[in-house]
Amino acid sequence: MKKIAIIVGARPNFVKASPLVKQLKKIKIFDILLIHTGQHYDSNMSKIFFKDLGLPAPDVFLGIGGGTHTEQTAKIMIELEKKLTNYSPDLVVVVGDVNSTLAGAIVSKKLNIKLAHIEAGLRSRDMTMPEEVNRIVTDAISDYLFTTCKDADDNLLQEGHSRKKIFFVGNLMIDSLIENISKNKSDILKKLKLKSNEYCIITLHRPSNVDDSNNLKKYLELVNSIQKKITVVFPIHPRTLKMLKTYQLDEYIKTFKNFVLTEPLGYIDFIKLLLECKFILTDSGGIQEEASYLKIPCLTLRKNTERPITITEGTNTLVGDNFKLINSIIKQILNNNYKKSKNIKYWDGKAALRISNILKKLL
Ligand code: UD1
Repeated sequence: MKKIAIIVGARPNFVKASPLVKQLKKIKIFDILLIHTGQHYDSNMSKIFFKDLGLPAPDVFLGIGGGTHTEQTAKIMIELEKKLTNYSPDLVVVVGDVNSTLAGAIVSKKLNIKLAHIEAGLRSRDMTMPEEVNRIVTDAISDYLFTTCKDADDNLLQEGHSRKKIFFVGNLMIDSLIENISKNKSDILKKLKLKSNEYCIITLHRPSNVDDSNNLKKYLELVNSIQKKITVVFPIHPRTLKMLKTYQLDEYIKTFKNFVLTEPLGYIDFIKLLLECKFILTDSGGIQEEASYLKIPCLTLRKNTERPITITEGTNTLVGDNFKLINSIIKQILNNNYKKSKNIKYWDGKAALRISNILKKLL
């Protein structure tokens, strides 16, 4: 039996890997080893996702935790090398663009193991973003590049990758979403005392937005102005919470009346919250895709995106910190004349099946 090691480490990885792990286990022709690096370790950043997604517990947990990017990546590499040497897989699969993805990719190639990158080819062209570095390095050394959209294929071809290595398979994050919408029984609206369609969400965790006190303050001022028009729900990332306390901004947000601050939410609760909201403000990558699929207006608090298809075909608009633009878009949304999204090719719940069919041929 051919052996495949799948590496995950952070919240978005779990969502993307889940449908693939389940599909590959179902066909019973590969031996699968699921390795969790422990990059995300809090229960509500990690464990709850395994439970919500029905993802089997990892076979290996490296327990790496936080640190600087180099420390984190290096620690994962050292532990991973031992495990991969021991298991000796025929293929390593890495997903997305987090530090665990980069570490997994480098270690695999150093051990001369074939490497597949899922969600290859996305480019923000912003080298100050840690994820952009992770994406470029991982793609450069991957043997098989699985993409979510045609513009990713174009980016890879432009960088000189052979067409033979590139497989346009669709979006695993949307596979998870489709699987979990219909069976969603979350009571999060009741718990947070929210009414469907009468609130918006904000998520904020990029270092560029939250590590600088001026930027963080600016976005909180934005929240302050929005909560005067519509209830704002803020599931807060641990990094952002830490920075709020560091900059003593936690007192400021206590003055917001129409505002709900919560811990990071599990997958099922977050999807329910997203499904029922009026719009979302975010600096996340994946949420731009989920909101587009669900036809929920999405205002991205960044200057660039590696997912331009969510702008051209989805519900996304890049707003950065342009408050004038944000206010005018919110007005459009509240008046029901914001743009509508189209269906995006292969964002259809079948990406895992496509990947597994290709892996059957490749291995
Ligand atoms: C990581 C990814 C980012 C992704 C995000 C999703 C990289 C470079 N970044 O960013 O692309 O969008 O995950 O959430 O890999 N922390 C905890 N508990 C946890 C996890 C993190 O307290 O379970 C705190 C720690 O202080 C940690 C900090 O958050 O140092 C940052 O975590 P880290 O995994 O380094 O990056 P994220 O900001 O979560």
